Amino acid sequence: MDSATTRAGPGAPGAGAPAATQGGRPLAARLRAPGPAAIKAVKAVAFALALLPLIRLVLGFQFDRLGANPIELITRSTGTWTLTFLLTTLAVTPLRQLTGCHWLLRLRRMFGLFAFFYVCLHFTTYIWLDQFFDWAAIWKDILKRRFIWIGFAAFVMLLPLAATSFNAAIRWLGGPGWRRLHRLVYAIAICGVIHYWWLVKKDITQPVIYGSVLAALLAFRVVHAWRNRSRAQG
Ligand code: HEM
Repeated sequence: MDSATTRAGPGAPGAGAPAATQGGRPLAARLRAPGPAAIKAVKAVAFALALLPLIRLVLGFQFDRLGANPIELITRSTGTWTLTFLLTTLAVTPLRQLTGCHWLLRLRRMFGLFAFFYVCLHFTTYIWLDQFFDWAAIWKDILKRRFIWIGFAAFVMLLPLAATSFNAAIRWLGGPGWRRLHRLVYAIAICGVIHYWWLVKKDITQPVIYGSVLAALLAFRVVHAWRNRSRAQG
């Protein structure tokens, strides 16, 4: 007997019903369609969690706990979190389709904007702490090191997506135009993985893991689109 039933006691409303149906609606249905307050709470928790990498860096800086090479640590941490948020953003639609939790879509814009936020910190660390705003040296580096130019290309492609992530821009572009522009996120994630792959010297385990997750997410979308097309054709 589950504890919820025990607490309710015999004869109490809902007594004897499985925990999954306590509160009127089955748990699965509540997870699929939570109320506005629950969605707000999930968004607040996700927002707070997404800030943790930044808080860790700020505290590390404050208490001198960023190791022997703080600039490298900040660059690496912000780069890793950019890629993680890009993949999280791309995972929302497959997760929504697999689980029927359509409300997950309400988190997608926030994840995308966190990817942009962390890449801005990543890029700022590079141009400020690494290159000291020496624009000639930065330009030379972009042209010389292939992992820098592909990372820079990903950053430039992210700019129009961040600029058009607000409701007014979505209305201005129209749904189909907005969706077409935001397909750039696939190219950005691919460039991000190649950037990582090209910069590691020996152990490619991490870029392979990120690359495999990205490949799985892209494969899911291709299969889903193909299935929809075959269904539409009869
Ligand atoms: C969407 C764009 C980008 C993504 C997803 C990204 C991601 C990453 C990742 C995952 C790392 C490695 C972290 C690690 O070693 O654990 C990294 C390192 C780095 N990135 Fe980026 N990055 C992006 C854009 C840029 C840009 C625009 C620049 C500079 C122009 C840049 C410069 C660097 C540098 C200098 C490193 C450190 C290399 C090293 O440690 O030797 N990245 N980035």
